Amino acid sequence: MISIDAEECRFITKSKDFYFDVVQSLTETPKRLSSKYFYDKNGDSLFEAIMMSPDYYLTKCEMEIFTCQTKQIIDRLAIQNTDFELIELGPGNCAKSIHLLRTLSAANVSFNFVPIDISENVINELQSFLLAQIPDLRLNGLIGDYFDTLASHCLLTQKRKVVLCLGGNIGNMTVAESNQFCKILRGYLQPGDQCIIGFDLVKNPAVIKLAYDDSEGLTRAFNLNLLERINRELDGDFNIEQFEHYCNYDPSTGAAKSYLVCLSDMVVNLPGVSIHFEKDECIWTEVSQKYSKIQIRQMASDNGFIHSGEFLDTKSWFMDALWTAV
Ligand code: AVI
Repeated sequence: MISIDAEECRFITKSKDFYFDVVQSLTETPKRLSSKYFYDKNGDSLFEAIMMSPDYYLTKCEMEIFTCQTKQIIDRLAIQNTDFELIELGPGNCAKSIHLLRTLSAANVSFNFVPIDISENVINELQSFLLAQIPDLRLNGLIGDYFDTLASHCLLTQKRKVVLCLGGNIGNMTVAESNQFCKILRGYLQPGDQCIIGFDLVKNPAVIKLAYDDSEGLTRAFNLNLLERINRELDGDFNIEQFEHYCNYDPSTGAAKSYLVCLSDMVVNLPGVSIHFEKDECIWTEVSQKYSKIQIRQMASDNGFIHSGEFLDTKSWFMDALWTAV
């Protein structure tokens, strides 16, 4: 039972959803925390460092695909001489998609670029960055939840659409959740519209394990930052030193899962609630699902798409799949 006094109530009001989500998921058995809360200011800079780390291969592989196969990707898009909408869900700094944008613009292809992000900051920064890089880009950044924003945007235009979901973000959903995601996405598209989705592929388990337990300890710090964030923003009193990062990759399911392991019996206090932890109890914080090529092709047809192209890096560690809505 949560009991909050007026002072505590004022403190958590600004992070209400975060607070209730954390309390609910830490009082369930087994305990868990959503990986969407990794990304505060500290988490963003730790993730930047992870992406540069030699042990974390995903970003480098997908970057190689977008820098070396830009033309091949564009050649497979069903956009022949039609003005189309290139929509990117969660564009970050467009480090990969900018290669498509530059090449399309240089070829005088007629398109609007529509990045969609929940963060106003991301969209504002993109606005100035992209227009400085590609002055004649037709840019229409939208702030909001992916699907709500996509839904209202799709109502406004009948143009052919190509939706980008890059970065392997689909991997941070369970297999069931990603199928649901693809079905909803399909629901917003017309037959012939396309999407490009980045999937991390199954590979030598040791390579995957190292990516999520890197030798510099960056992923460890990234995972522990979740507890630090709860202390900072929700006035929690986690003793961070009593938690350890643990990552497990199961080649039989393709799931790399990260946990925070509690090292001693303890009680953690958040406003209005005390949460008991036992020694060795784990908080599941993230799944990073890996897929085989066969699973990706199957996922396309299970969710109303044709798997119409696949772009792999030279090591065949990552795939950007091109799907066409049927
Ligand atoms: C954002 N996402 C694709 C990353 C991944 O590989 O699952 C997040 C991450 N977690 C730990 N390292 C990187």
